[in-house]
Amino acid sequence: MSKLRIMNIVGARPQIIKASAISRAISKKFSEEIEEIVVHTGQHYDRELSDVFFDELEIRMPDFNLQVGSGRHGRQTGMILERIEDVMLSEKPDCVVIYGDTNSTLAAALAASKQHFPVVHIEAGMRSFNKQMPEELNRIVADHASTLLFAPTNTAFKNLMNEGFRPENVSPYSINNPRVILTGDIMYDNSLFYAELAEKKKKELLHKMGIEEGRFVLVTIHRDLNTDDTTRLGNIFNTLKKLSDESKFTMVLPLHPRTMIALKNNLPDLYSAVTSSEHMKVIRPVSFLEMILLEKKAKIIVTDSGGVQKESHFFSKPCIVLRKETEWVELVKNGTVRLADADPAMITEAWNYFMDNHDELRYPAFYGDGKASEAILGEMLMVFCH
Ligand code: UD1
Ligand code: UDP
Repeated sequence: MSKLRIMNIVGARPQIIKASAISRAISKKFSEEIEEIVVHTGQHYDRELSDVFFDELEIRMPDFNLQVGSGRHGRQTGMILERIEDVMLSEKPDCVVIYGDTNSTLAAALAASKQHFPVVHIEAGMRSFNKQMPEELNRIVADHASTLLFAPTNTAFKNLMNEGFRPENVSPYSINNPRVILTGDIMYDNSLFYAELAEKKKKELLHKMGIEEGRFVLVTIHRDLNTDDTTRLGNIFNTLKKLSDESKFTMVLPLHPRTMIALKNNLPDLYSAVTSSEHMKVIRPVSFLEMILLEKKAKIIVTDSGGVQKESHFFSKPCIVLRKETEWVELVKNGTVRLADADPAMITEAWNYFMDNHDELRYPAFYGDGKASEAILGEMLMVFCH
């Protein structure tokens, strides 16, 4: 029997990391049955947002790089759509695998579904219920263009049911008769696998950075709602600076380039104050092994990232989320994620609460058994090779 040819689409940092879980499971268990083609859209292109993950996580190098680069939503999505369709038509994969909710996800979902290549959406069913967030529209379209949908959480599964997806559908599956299943989260697989490796390979990191375990706070900020709104950005950085000055806790901030650019251009005085502060370490984005080591050793995590707030849970760390809402609602219900928006009072309140109650917090297993990638590939074989 010929192998199942899957086309893995990556473009932005979190997708490259997610795809590594699938690549690893193919090498470990399915290399006789599954052949992988990797397409990189080029949405992220800086070494720290792209190549570093291919090197460090030993992912299959892209077979195609569409080199679309940065741009407004329409232009970027349109360029990916046009270029990726050509690759799909020439390669004729058995299915196209998309991850998460970026413009690369959206464009690949549209190109594949319109050319009748079955779409497999990993991390399906996530919803913030805020359609002003670009990712929300991307997710909804991606889910409704898919044939096989893998929900990472109960909530995601229920969201899909509420939009008319049906668990009782039977084979043969198609875009009109999709299969939806709850598998757990492939990022939990990754965190388990790489956490140990990070301890081994990056053991000098804290020393090199001049920080101590449990004595620093890790911060990431990159969402457009925070970077592109100068009032929000100013509130966030002023509050973080005040908290670190008062508490003498070091803040480690591996900043996405868009945040660095926005801060430098729009708030130059604050940029100078933050970058010259004794307690704030503003650095370039770090590798995944470095990141998970920092997450493991931090006292608290502050972020607007979807992936980072979940990793805070994997490593039993409280997390302040700089948004009004989240897709990972179980973390808020659990009391270990606090939604603080960009509000100085709410950020400070959450900070004080987590500093005071750190040891009483609990982190139940919400994200599966760490074998979601294998379950996903097994399911893909059943659906497409029956
Ligand atoms: C994108 C995703 C977001 C995801 C994030 C992960 C969309 C709509 N957004 O946001 O969901 O959480 O990736 O990190 O798809 N830039 C660089 N170097 C790069 C790439 C980008 O400097 O390699 C700068 C450019 O100024 C660019 C800006 O970052 O304009 C934004 O990049 P873009 O890919 O459009 O969105 P992200 O904010 O990275
Ligand atoms: N990440 C990383 N280095 C960094 C910041 C983040 O490796 O400097 C990883 C992080 O551990 C997580 C993923 O990138 O796995 C999250 O990506 P991001 O925050 O860019 O996007 P989101 O998850 O919000 O879509």
